Amino acid sequence: MHPLFIMMAVVALGGALLSVKQRAPEALPWIFAIAALGMIYRFWSVQRDDAAARGEGLIDHEVLRKMRLRDYGSWIKENVRGQDAAVDLIVHSIQRGLELARPGRSLGSFLLVGPTGTGKTFLAQMTAMALWPEKEPVILRMNQFKDPYDLQALLGATGGAETGSLTGALLEDPYRVVLLDEIDKCHPDVLHGLFEALDGGHIRDKASSKMVDFSGCVFFATCNSGAERLRALKAADSATFAARARDALIKDAGFEKAFLARFSEIVLMDALAPIHIAEIACLQIAKQWREQGIEVSYLSPELLARAVALNAEFGEYGVRQLARCLRRLMDPLLDEARKKGSSAVSLGFDPSTGGATLMLAAERR
Ligand SMILES: Nc1ncnc2c1ncn2[C@@H]1O[C@H](COP(=O)(O)OP(=O)(O)OP(=O)(O)O)[C@@H](O)[C@H]1O
Ligand SMILES: [Mg+2]
Repeated sequence: MHPLFIMMAVVALGGALLSVKQRAPEALPWIFAIAALGMIYRFWSVQRDDAAARGEGLIDHEVLRKMRLRDYGSWIKENVRGQDAAVDLIVHSIQRGLELARPGRSLGSFLLVGPTGTGKTFLAQMTAMALWPEKEPVILRMNQFKDPYDLQALLGATGGAETGSLTGALLEDPYRVVLLDEIDKCHPDVLHGLFEALDGGHIRDKASSKMVDFSGCVFFATCNSGAERLRALKAADSATFAARARDALIKDAGFEKAFLARFSEIVLMDALAPIHIAEIACLQIAKQWREQGIEVSYLSPELLARAVALNAEFGEYGVRQLARCLRRLMDPLLDEARKKGSSAVSLGFDPSTGGATLMLAAERR
């Protein structure tokens, strides 16, 4: 503002106050009181805008401190089979994170390492469902960020029209599970750009210039490389696993020490034992039939053994292909049951056909 204009304004204001003093002196205290209130309000709104620009006040940590994930531990284990140790570790760690929720600290960050199809992505999804059932986790396929400039796609580009895929999702809702899938496949510069987020700090979305607070987030990152060395470490001495797992991943997955230091836990999610594959087959068969409105009241052990054998054929893919194989086996039976109008069935195994054919053992109307 031009100094001359300020001088004129001061003179005009002084003149106005003098004439008020002469004509209605009793109004002066009121004028000063209103002016003081106006100044206090202005000071408060500037402070509030500064806090919003720093990303403060977006997250109610008191609400987080009251959440109880530990009550859902057994529900997660019912869904994610054969990974009880991993589930216990993660649930316990997030529960601690919730109890200690505060700015500048994420609720937990976990690097899940294991072969394909062992439930890494599924565990992240189930944890998200247990924490915030009405919200989808933010799933970022990190193999799409192979170039250093791809960081802009995650955090927004200066002057860009669209917010970043990570920052934009968090601006919509700061209480989220974020899954960084296949993290070993992205460019190291992209990983560097995520350090602040993994720590639970603040990052400014470059497109909207808005601050994003990561202290209401749980991070999962998944990676296939390094599983063998971690398995050997676990078998040799589980007590030193936590201490040496990071060194193993520096060698095998090529991660930097500074990046691995950002994770609260490194978790091995190893290949599933046959008994757990049978359990998953059992769950998936029941689910496939339930989707058609039919309850499976009995499943023969031979059928589950067949499911495990089938999975061995696709062993390389973990249980990823299991649902598809089972669907192929079940579809003819499902058609038959639907035609008969069955609402509940028992599923058996027909050895007369060499074990490859399934049969409807019994049905109730
Ligand atoms: N331990 C498990 N318990 C129950 N279901 C499982 C388990 N593991 C895998 N599944 C089933 O298989 C599907 C594929 O698993 P998921 O995507 O979690 O594998 P992944 O370990 O992330 O593999 P990748 O490394 O290839 O990404 C899941 O959606 C789920 O239906
Ligand atoms: Mg996955």
